[in-house]
Amino acid sequence: MVEPIKMQSREEREIAIEAAGFNTFLLRSEDVYIDLLTDSGTNAMSDRQWAGMLLGDEAYAGSRNFYRLEKTIQNFYGYKHVIPTHQGRGAEHIISRALIRQGHFIPGNMYFTTTRLHQELAGGQFVDVIIDEAHDPTSEHPFKGNVSLQKLEQLINKVGAENIPYVSLAGTVNMAGGQPISMACVKAVRELCKPKGIRVYLDATRMVENSFFIQEREEDFSDKSIEEILKEFCSYTDGAWMSAKKDSLVNIGGWLAINDHDVFELARNMVVIYEGLHTYGGLAGRDLEALAIGIEESVLQEHVRSRVDQVRYLGNLLETWGIPIVRPVGGHAVYLNAKSFFPHIPQSEFPAQTLAAELYIDSGVRSMERGVASAGRDEKTGEHKYPALELTRLTIPRRVYTQAHMDVVAEAVKSVWDKRDSIRGLKIVYEPKYLRFFQARFKRISSS
Ligand SMILES: Cc1ncc(COP(=O)(O)O)c(C=O)c1O
Repeated sequence: MVEPIKMQSREEREIAIEAAGFNTFLLRSEDVYIDLLTDSGTNAMSDRQWAGMLLGDEAYAGSRNFYRLEKTIQNFYGYKHVIPTHQGRGAEHIISRALIRQGHFIPGNMYFTTTRLHQELAGGQFVDVIIDEAHDPTSEHPFKGNVSLQKLEQLINKVGAENIPYVSLAGTVNMAGGQPISMACVKAVRELCKPKGIRVYLDATRMVENSFFIQEREEDFSDKSIEEILKEFCSYTDGAWMSAKKDSLVNIGGWLAINDHDVFELARNMVVIYEGLHTYGGLAGRDLEALAIGIEESVLQEHVRSRVDQVRYLGNLLETWGIPIVRPVGGHAVYLNAKSFFPHIPQSEFPAQTLAAELYIDSGVRSMERGVASAGRDEKTGEHKYPALELTRLTIPRRVYTQAHMDVVAEAVKSVWDKRDSIRGLKIVYEPKYLRFFQARFKRISSS
């Protein structure tokens, strides 16, 4: 599939970003030249997937596409029971409401925006138990997505195992810069939790890409296939939720998979309230078919290698110019370290949001903030939460852009880098209550 892309003038982009309140989520896509906002739902589907779309069985109940998808998830991820959902947050909503009660604590390897919000709305409190290296953009640790067993054990001792409904793990941790978790770590988490009766659930959204890093970096896995690694990793968990819009190469879709039959029954009952019948979960039959094919294609070695290598290509180019990025380069995106990019802009003036806006104005490249705007406010004090990482994410959609596009992006970032000293920060002028980064509006801080 190809589409024309349009290069606006700098003046037109100034008008567009101002109208969007300096928030790249509020730009019209037709005003964007190269779109690195997200890798979510922006992947190009294959000829096989498009052909599969014509095989949609649009029966309300029990479509054959559902059974094919169920079998594919069981084969590749290894879980027993499967519930489709319209996308990842639909699954997060259901598992959070099914398992979390008021006063519960949910430890995890760094928060993710929608995941944490659903856990909080269900009455829980998220507790970050990722290793310290994850908060340091310069650390070269090969598995910065790992859980600190010490932090996890301390939490269990403090609040009691009965107040922890599950440990919330994620593959290639998004907010840490797309950093993987090792097989040794998930095994150790399992060993710690099992005797205490604590479940382990996985955000499998980018677990295929995580499996590639295990194959590349972890002893004993270099001769295992992505498929084998993925299945083994999932075998140490009790279930998973999935935003299929990433690894699985579709434009919409998600699922929840659960081994425990009682939890599955609860979740299957809830899906009919919030998503749709348990055999379609808010998706059309054709979407289920494209997703099943996407899962098969997602684990192919050549695909994953070229995908991750493209991301690294961009990261390496930026590094040759001394532009600060999160190290090592992650699986789905290059993350610019906005604190080092703009040392003169305090975090209260949204350096990462500023960088995303300036990059768009300068070149038409769209990126996304992953810093203080994404972190939101403290419920009790109302103050901004200030995360250690203040990042601007250049996210590469799968099978869409060429290396030449990456060259253009790198030069665009370099152009902002060269004039960084003259750039000023932003102030927030509107924010909604939930997930403010999607819809918040900002203004430039004037020089007077
Ligand atoms: C790690 C992670 N988990 C969950 C989600 C939520 O998925 P969705 O956007 O499909 O609702 C996303 C996507 O933004 C994600 O990156």
